[in-house]
Amino acid sequence: MSDLKQKILTMVKDDLAEIETALTQNLNPYLDLVSQTAKHILFSGGKRLRPLLMVISAKICGYHEPAAKTFSIIFEYLHAATLLHDDLVDEATLRRGKPVAHSIWGNSTAVLVGDFLLARSLIIAAETENPKVIKIIAKITENMSQGEIHQLLNKGDFNLSESEYMEIIRRKTAVLIQGACRVGAIIAKADEEREIALSRYGLNLGIAFQMVDDLLDYTSDTSVIGKTIGADLREGKLTLPVIYSLKAASTKDRTQMENIIKSKNFSVHGFEKLIGLLKKYKGIAYTQQFAEAHIRQAKEAISLFGPTEHRQLLENIADYAITRKL
Ligand code: IPE
Ligand code: IPE
Ligand code: MG
Ligand code: MG
Repeated sequence: MSDLKQKILTMVKDDLAEIETALTQNLNPYLDLVSQTAKHILFSGGKRLRPLLMVISAKICGYHEPAAKTFSIIFEYLHAATLLHDDLVDEATLRRGKPVAHSIWGNSTAVLVGDFLLARSLIIAAETENPKVIKIIAKITENMSQGEIHQLLNKGDFNLSESEYMEIIRRKTAVLIQGACRVGAIIAKADEEREIALSRYGLNLGIAFQMVDDLLDYTSDTSVIGKTIGADLREGKLTLPVIYSLKAASTKDRTQMENIIKSKNFSVHGFEKLIGLLKKYKGIAYTQQFAEAHIRQAKEAISLFGPTEHRQLLENIADYAITRKL
């Protein structure tokens, strides 16, 4: 484990333990099948990034009540719901090193347990008795589903533009992370300036987080990341490293890249060839630098907070998001 990850985990140890307890206590399914499926996605090694961000955002605004932990699981239940649906849509086979839920319990159960988790998330949002929070959660869900559909519509489109890619990742990933930070500020009854600052932090962090996820699909290892490497390409999902390299490539290399992607069941050799071209045309470096720029903006956004332990923690999480291996 990296020093940075170790440092973050030490700082959030107690919060993390309380989040785990709240995740177990608030599930309340009446069917064993729902319980099994929900637990499979909820307790298989997720990083708990979103609930942690909500709790830390509330704390940096001066709110330290235990209720923050309960409210924070809104974001993990919603995250888990979208992962169940996303794995089905993406035809994934592995998540966190385990077979995806729909491969064990079938597509119908995975979809419906996703709906159950979404409903649990909304019920806990309603328990805040704050219509602004409920509206934010509903809006996140709207954005995430449309972001995923937008992505689906562009499958296999070699002309997908960088700006469209940005629009997709903002909706499908960044708004949830943004919402977690913003709701932390709202629960703490922070002033508008702080709410906007945390919201901007979350949005930029979320964008960088998805860019890194897309990079790891090329640069990591299945055994490390627990998801199948090369899965994006195999399903025709064009992400920034490919979008950038396709545009920069010579006609010959572009045709070669398109042929590898089109062949779907490309060999290890084909995949390595493609990675070579992503490096040659700087798609990997460009994506990494772009993610780093968003991390700088995220840190900049929270500079109005004093140099407290909580600001340090948010900065550490931002640094972790672009250096992470998992
Ligand atoms: C995975 O998110 C989905 C993306 C938005 C890339 P995480 O990497 O936060 O997933 P877990 O919960 O830690 O496994
Ligand atoms: C993020 O996109 C998925 C959601 C926002 C639910 P990906 O499809 O890249 O996420 P992974 O790689 O499956 O975790
Ligand atoms: Mg996916
Ligand atoms: Mg991915």
